[in-house]
Amino acid sequence: MASVHEQSRAVAAMPGPRGLPLLGSIHEIDLKAFHQILEDWAEQYGKLYRFHMGPRAIVVTSDAETIKRMFRERPDLFRRTRRLANAVSELRFNGLFSAEGEDWRRQRKMVAMALNTAHLKPFFPKLRVTTERLLARWDRAAAEGSVVDLCRDLMRFTVDVTTQLAFGIDVNTIETDGPVIQQKLDKVFPILNSRVNAPFPYWRYLRLPKDRDLDRALVDIEAKVNEMIADVRRRMAADPSLYQAPTNFLEAIIAAKETEGVEFSDADIFGNVCTLLLAGEDTTANTIAWAVNYFIEYPQHFARARAEVDALLGAARLPQEIEQTAALPFIEAFYNETMRLKPVAPLNAMEPLEDIELDGYRIPKGTIIMMLTRRIAMDDARFGHAAEFDPDRWLKSEAERGCPHDTTAFVPFGSGPRFCPGRNLALLEIRTVLATLCRNFDVSLADSGRAVEELLAFTMMPKNLQVRLKKRPS
Ligand code: HEM
Repeated sequence: MASVHEQSRAVAAMPGPRGLPLLGSIHEIDLKAFHQILEDWAEQYGKLYRFHMGPRAIVVTSDAETIKRMFRERPDLFRRTRRLANAVSELRFNGLFSAEGEDWRRQRKMVAMALNTAHLKPFFPKLRVTTERLLARWDRAAAEGSVVDLCRDLMRFTVDVTTQLAFGIDVNTIETDGPVIQQKLDKVFPILNSRVNAPFPYWRYLRLPKDRDLDRALVDIEAKVNEMIADVRRRMAADPSLYQAPTNFLEAIIAAKETEGVEFSDADIFGNVCTLLLAGEDTTANTIAWAVNYFIEYPQHFARARAEVDALLGAARLPQEIEQTAALPFIEAFYNETMRLKPVAPLNAMEPLEDIELDGYRIPKGTIIMMLTRRIAMDDARFGHAAEFDPDRWLKSEAERGCPHDTTAFVPFGSGPRFCPGRNLALLEIRTVLATLCRNFDVSLADSGRAVEELLAFTMMPKNLQVRLKKRPS
């Protein structure tokens, strides 16, 4: 990051929408489409611009080199925004995602270790059981001809997987009728999205119905999470060897607190359990849902994915071994292309911890900088014919295709020291579910007259993705 020169210009001199006095551009911003509005402005004002939310100036960059450097220079030069930390802290969900500095370093080791690839192979049989449950749920929906709310079903799947891997608990929301923790977690991200971007923290003074609704959900989440923590503590008391050889994240963090004197409080444990539940749920579920939406849109790609899975699985209805999930090159290309065009985190916000200079402008410390990560992957200079959905770009070399394929501009999981520690788990879930879906069902939109739209609720999800499944003849 360039050092600040005396001649550098102020943020106010950057291009950007004019906005209204005091209000700035608030009236032009719909938070559910925030990413699209910022991308449209980038088209108009260029790679570096500013806009105002109330009196506060926010800087927006879609310069790939700047974004890569910002990702890299953490936690010392950049942090996630203080607004995020405050909003998360008010929910008492402080964990790895919102931690900074030394606090972050301490927690990162523990989480990264728990989600590390070495744990995925022994975990696969449990993931297979959870996938069999999802398959049975979809078999039923296909037999009844009922409409499947894809994102909701997939969130049940991802919550079940995360709780099993990270806490050793089988909540089995897929086979549970009635209210489940996933429905409560659902309330958190939309409110977090609006609070993080709100010009004024109204909820500290006035609870709107949506805030009261969240308060009620938080009571239930807290009860469920505390019950899980208590279960694990009981399990460890009954088998003290787990303190020496913990088998998952929750056991490891409890053991670290109680045996090694590592500074973890009960609040850290609670916050990180919630963080993993939230970070692992919508992200993975929405990525799979976007991929299914592309399957519907491009039947030729669906047929190719299905042929690949059929050849691999023989008579089986889903992958039996983890190695099989790694032998699906077309499916891998397909979900990479999905994440390039429909990343569930299309933007990412940070603040510099000291004054910095960007492109001749002085950015004071504490200024929010929005990084448009989808936009850099949609630049023709980085990915040839970038607007086209073309899985083959991931299978052929640049020379074969005769156009650029710069994977350094593809950052759906972030990058640098804080890149997503759940990436490998997420990719395993994505591969397993997509293979299972291709193998067993034809899929179509339940209402083809309703367009599937992007909806930002902290993560970017497909709105109106209701589908019908038709079982393939065996
Ligand atoms: C397709 C699925 C997923 C996507 C696209 C995704 C994306 C991301 C992104 C963009 C970040 C920010 C990275 C950065 O700042 O450089 C992140 C952070 C994080 N993710 Fe994921 N994620 C996914 C799945 C998961 C899963 C399954 C888990 C765990 C169960 C998880 C846990 C986390 C955590 C704990 C962080 C914070 C890391 C830190 O601040 O050090 N994610 N993820």
